[in-house]
Amino acid sequence: MANVIVVGAQWGDEGKGKVTDLLSEKAHMVVRYQGGANAGHTVIVGGETYKLHLVPSGILYPNVACVVGAGTVIDPAKLLGEIAMLQQRGIDVSRLRIALGAHVTMPYHRLLDKAEELRRGGNAIGTTGLGIGPTYTDKANRSGFRLGDLLDGPSFKTRLAEILELKNLILTRIYDVPALDLEAVYAEYVAYGEQLKPYLDNTALVVHEAIARRANVLFEGAQGTLLDIDQGTYPFVTSSHPVAGGACVGSGIGPTAIDRVIGVAKAYTTRVGGGPFPTELTDALGEELRRVGAEFGTTTGRARRCGWFDAVVGRLAARVNGLDCLAITKLDVLDALPELKICTSYKRRDTGEVLTEFPMDAAVLEQCEPQYETVPGWQASTAECRRFEELPANAQAYLKRIARILQVPISIIAVGPGREQTIVVEDPIHGPKRALVGGTGALLL
Ligand code: GDP
Ligand code: IMO
Ligand code: MG
Repeated sequence: MANVIVVGAQWGDEGKGKVTDLLSEKAHMVVRYQGGANAGHTVIVGGETYKLHLVPSGILYPNVACVVGAGTVIDPAKLLGEIAMLQQRGIDVSRLRIALGAHVTMPYHRLLDKAEELRRGGNAIGTTGLGIGPTYTDKANRSGFRLGDLLDGPSFKTRLAEILELKNLILTRIYDVPALDLEAVYAEYVAYGEQLKPYLDNTALVVHEAIARRANVLFEGAQGTLLDIDQGTYPFVTSSHPVAGGACVGSGIGPTAIDRVIGVAKAYTTRVGGGPFPTELTDALGEELRRVGAEFGTTTGRARRCGWFDAVVGRLAARVNGLDCLAITKLDVLDALPELKICTSYKRRDTGEVLTEFPMDAAVLEQCEPQYETVPGWQASTAECRRFEELPANAQAYLKRIARILQVPISIIAVGPGREQTIVVEDPIHGPKRALVGGTGALLL
């Protein structure tokens, strides 16, 4: 029995979908705990590509129960569309349980997300435009709707009338956006409630019962550590808690139930949307990484910004998530490069100070220049490697260096998007727990 959190260790899109799918083979349940359809998790099995936004990446295994916890935000049309897509492709979705307490993205949330981004102009966050921030805003403001609310028509309508009155004032008077019609929104969302009813449940209890049965439960993070609203590069973050701690809050279980935390990181770094990115490459090399890594958003199709591996970011992720081990993905994307850089610290332009820990102050971060260690590339294909020893010597050295700098062992290496294009160095679910060996380095590659 082991309950494992899979968390993004960078700015999202690290390959959490692929890693969760891989680990699902040994899992009984996979739980999404935060975020919404802003997530885009790609799973490729037998040449078939699945792009999942709200449904956990364990859904492709017929015996794995899938849970969407109360910490998520749900756009019902998107969720129903995803369920229909999976059904059409022959996937049984009756194993899906969705939290009655998950908050609902309403049409005004999407409109406000886009209108607020327009108003921010040059300071736009570069959100996915799916209403994520405004949905979490209303949740925190106690003016949101939960999925369970859609099932009680009369009281839903009364509250919707009150809330929509204010939202329409904001839309029309501040943003010059046409008002929404109460009857139309009500009818649409009551219908969603009816369609989602068979899936709705007290999911905190469902997860608790699985843990009590000593099932293997995987918690699939969305977004990444640096997009966390508290630990990330605020305000250029999402509105939820992607970090490992979010798994407990968002799925309604206690921290003592967690056995392992696996951080997923690319062998380089990407970021989509605005905000600081110290190791970003804005030159031809950045373009090359984007082309070879097919770095275009799974949800929005936007080009992802690309740069070198940032060990300062990695150290932050190791610390705030309590990482036991790492899954390093997309190693193959670096195959052709003659040399590689790893950012080991930042140097402040204004004071000359060298920082090894990621600064939380945006003004300080702005002053930071990455300090690099240059290592030789391997200029050979890794895509067919299935054991660590089969990797070119310089690729092995690159990975070992990352593990040593972060003081976190690497348990999984991905060398291509397919499920089989993976090297499992050590069983991340049942292997030794790093915290128990005191991080002596004995487990490092
Ligand atoms: P997620 O949001 O963390 O699940 O990641 P995304 O699915 O948004 O983005 C990761 C992209 O990289 C997807 O297109 C994956 O198919 C792809 N991918 C994952 N692992 C590898 C890998 O090791 N090599 C290559 N070339 N692609 C990978
Ligand atoms: P997965 O789960 C990468 C980014 C957006 C934007 C910021 C806020 O696939 O890793 P939001 O719509 O959440 O308010 O946007 O967060 N963002 C992601 N970037 N991967 C994601 O999810 C993301 N979800 C949101 O680009 O910068
Ligand atoms: Mg993604």
